[in-house]
Amino acid sequence: MPFAIRVHEFGGPEVLLFEEIALREPRPGEVRLRHTAIGLNFVEIYQREGVFPFRLPFTPGNEGVGIVEAVGEGVAEIHVGDRMAYAPVPGSYSEVRLIAAERLIRVPDSIDDKTAAAIMLKGMTAQYLLRQTHRVTPGEVVLVHAAAGGMGQFLCQWAKALGATVLGTVSTEEKAVVAASYGCDFPIVYSRENFVDAVRRHTSGEMVDVVYDAVGRDTLLGSIDCLKPLGHLVSFGDASGPPEPLDIVPLGDKGSLTVTRGTLATFTRTRAGLLACANDLFDIIASGGVKVATERTFPLSEAADAHRALQDRRTVGCSILMP
Ligand SMILES: NC(=O)c1ccc[n+]([C@@H]2O[C@H](COP(=O)([O-])OP(=O)(O)OC[C@H]3O[C@@H](n4cnc5c(N)ncnc54)[C@H](OP(=O)(O)O)[C@@H]3O)[C@@H](O)[C@H]2O)c1
Repeated sequence: MPFAIRVHEFGGPEVLLFEEIALREPRPGEVRLRHTAIGLNFVEIYQREGVFPFRLPFTPGNEGVGIVEAVGEGVAEIHVGDRMAYAPVPGSYSEVRLIAAERLIRVPDSIDDKTAAAIMLKGMTAQYLLRQTHRVTPGEVVLVHAAAGGMGQFLCQWAKALGATVLGTVSTEEKAVVAASYGCDFPIVYSRENFVDAVRRHTSGEMVDVVYDAVGRDTLLGSIDCLKPLGHLVSFGDASGPPEPLDIVPLGDKGSLTVTRGTLATFTRTRAGLLACANDLFDIIASGGVKVATERTFPLSEAADAHRALQDRRTVGCSILMP
């Protein structure tokens, strides 16, 4: 019988238990996939803590890549032995899983398994943030929070490939070096200096066109103060906790600013949207505009340690769970 990480009660990393699971045969439209690599994402901390109303017990996780072991009735374009990847679909912390065939994506052969597991959720998120939510254009100035993190790796490189100047915040000098290696032109150590002042200095007071903010509580109001007139705040996560409710009235006084909150699920809810997002990601990787380093791997059985490292801000770039 295969193993998976199961959560029977919400809580800290210790609730991530490595257990045997029973899997039925695929139903019509389903596929049984044996994972070869699984992506680790901050959002899985929220799944574990019960921020999302998941029914207990459940298997956390959102993305992975693997080999098809069995296909259900009516699945025509996917065959046993095919290598397929996916995101965002809950339940990836497992050796083997069942999944709807329509959520699977064929990954180019040039992308290895660990890279495939690292790119599906974070890379497609970067795609919708940089190419759909706010279309970054050459000459724009962009601020990315947590620039040395998993999302940071994609946002900094891709924004730079689109011709933007990239400013990024990080908590340590070591992470500033990592962010610079991801294409961040001006890393700002926000634990040491006020990032709004730093942005003002680096832009000679012009400020930035768009802020990509997934830190939330600690940064959101400062992010608004980093924008130039008609600037765009793109909020997409709460690594430091959910921000206070936002008063929209000052957005007018501060320069007719706009604020958006996005989720990858919205942009990939249709098959066409999912494929367009994935194909754009594969193209930027093939062009060399975004290079993906999987900085750390953890055995799937040690997912709790992976969560501790991520939550304690000890990871950089993308981390992978290996089944
Ligand atoms: N809405 C969407 O579609 C979507 C999709 C993917 C990810 N996200 C969000 O994007 C964010 C980043 O995800 P990720 O998986 O790439 O994680 P990550 O950036 O690798 O890790 C989170 C980073 O956030 C920073 N951070 C700031 N305050 C923190 C705090 N109090 N506790 C922990 N970390 C803190 C840390 O960087 P420093 O130490 O440099 O501050 C940390 O390394 C998460 O908020 C996630 O939910 C949203």
